[in-house]
Amino acid sequence: MTQHTRAKSEAFTPSGQIQFGVFFQGVNSGAIWKAAESGSQTDFESFRRIAQTAERGLFAAFFLGEGLRLREHLGRPHALDVAGRPDAQTMLAALASVTRNIGLVATQNTTYNDPADLAHRLASLDLISGGRAAWNIVTTDNAWTGANFRRGGYLDHADRYRHAEAFVETAKRIWDSWENPDGPARRVLHRGRHYTVDVTPRLPPSGQYRPVLFQAGDSPDGRNFAARQADVIFAAHPKFDDAVEFRKDLVQRSVAAGRGANAVQIMPASEFILAPTAAEAAEKKEWVRSLQIGPQQAIAYLEQFWGRELSNYDPDGPLPDIDPVVEETSETRGSGFHGAKARQLADQWRAEAKDKGLSIRQFVISKTARIDATFTGSYTSVADQLTEYARVGAVDGFNISPWLIPAGLDDIVNHLVPELQERGVYPTEYRGSTLREHLGLETPGRTADEAVEVAGA
Ligand SMILES: Cc1cc2nc3c(=O)[nH]c(=O)nc-3n(C[C@H](O)[C@H](O)[C@H](O)COP(=O)(O)O)c2cc1C
Repeated sequence: MTQHTRAKSEAFTPSGQIQFGVFFQGVNSGAIWKAAESGSQTDFESFRRIAQTAERGLFAAFFLGEGLRLREHLGRPHALDVAGRPDAQTMLAALASVTRNIGLVATQNTTYNDPADLAHRLASLDLISGGRAAWNIVTTDNAWTGANFRRGGYLDHADRYRHAEAFVETAKRIWDSWENPDGPARRVLHRGRHYTVDVTPRLPPSGQYRPVLFQAGDSPDGRNFAARQADVIFAAHPKFDDAVEFRKDLVQRSVAAGRGANAVQIMPASEFILAPTAAEAAEKKEWVRSLQIGPQQAIAYLEQFWGRELSNYDPDGPLPDIDPVVEETSETRGSGFHGAKARQLADQWRAEAKDKGLSIRQFVISKTARIDATFTGSYTSVADQLTEYARVGAVDGFNISPWLIPAGLDDIVNHLVPELQERGVYPTEYRGSTLREHLGLETPGRTADEAVEVAGA
C-alpha cells in the first residue's frame, strides 16, 4: 500500500490530482494516422514513439482499445475503419521493454475470451512489465464481432454482464491463488452457467500483486459491474457538469457495493486541441476536423446509415435526396446507429443541414466531432479548467485520444503538463514503479479461501 491511497470511507475525498493516459482504438480510429510523419498503425516504431512521449509526460498509462473485426457494409470493409493494428497484449509486451514506468492497459473482452487463458496472459504481461499491466474490461457490444468466433452471434446485454462478472471473479481468484514463494498454488474451481474452470495458476503475483482493472461501459449494469469489480472506469463523461454527476452516481454505486466512496477512480475519454492562444486553438480545431473527416469518409459515414452506395454524391454538396434503403439500422452498422429509424433520421438530417447551410462533409464533421470529449483552448485556460476538475474531484484523470500521430501528444506533454505541474495538480515524478502505485490504488486483499467454488453465474 502506498502513502497516497485513501482510507475506505462512505464520504468521497477528492485526490486533488489529475493523471493522464493515452488511448488508441483498435479499429475505426478516425484520422490520427494521416500526417506524412505518422508512420503506420502496424509499425512498432509509431507506438514506441508515442509511449515514450507519454512517459516523458509522466502519463500513468498507455492504453490500447480492442476491435476484433472490421465492420463491413455494402460487402466491403468499412472505409472508416483502420485495417489492422497488432494485437494489444503483444504490442504492450514489446512496449514494456522500451519503457520503464508507464502503465500498459490492454482492452480485452469477456464475451469471446476464456478466463483461465486470459488471466494467464495478463499475469504474464504484468510480470514482464514489472507490475505495470492493466486490463480494460469490456463486453463488446456488436454483432459483427461475434461473427468471428466459434460461438458466433453475441449475448444479450444483461447476459453479457453476468458472463463478465463470472469471468472477472474467476480471473481474480486465479491471480489470488499463488501461495508464498515456496508454497503450491491453490486450485481454482468454478462451475457456473457460463464457465467451467478447473485450473492451478502457473504464475506468481507481480510487483503490483495483480493487473489493475479498468472497465469501459456506461449502462446501469456496466456501472454496477464497475462499482463491484473495477479499480478505474474508462468513462464517457468528460465535460464538467456531466463528470460531476457521473462521479456522484459512481460513488453511490460503490458505497452500495460495500467498497466505499473512493474505491473506483474515473478517467473519461477525451481529446485536447491546444495552442498558445484560444484563437490559434480554434483554427487548429478546424484543421484537425478536416483531417479527420475527408471527402471519402464523409460519404462512407452516410452510407452506413443510408445502406446504399452514395459515391456519386458530391461531399461538398447537399445531403442525398434519395431515401435510405434500410428502415431501422442494425447492430452490424455500428452502435451509434443501432435501432435508429433511418428514414426519419435522414429527413431530420437533411432539414438540419439545409437550415445550417452545411455540405455533406461539413455535416458529417459536425455529427462525428467528439464535441463532448474535446477540450479546445490555450494551454493556460485548459490547465485552469482541469485544475477545477482536480479541486472538486470530478475525475481522477483523462484518457486522451491523440488526434494526430505523432504531434497530437506533443502539445500536451510539452505545454499542458508543465502548466498543470505549476498548479500543483499533476505529478512531478512517477510515484513508484508499478501502475497501482502511480494511481495510488490499494493492493487488493487476498482471499482466505481454500480451493473455491463460485456459485451462481
Ligand atoms: C470509453 C469506452 C471505451 C470502450 N472501448 C471499447 C473497446 O476498445 N473495445 C470494445 O469492444 N468495446 C469498447 N467499449 C464498449 C464496451 O464493449 C461496453 O462493454 C459496451 O459499451 C457495452 O456496455 P454498456 O452497455 O454498459 O455501455 C468501450 C466503451 C466505453 C464507454
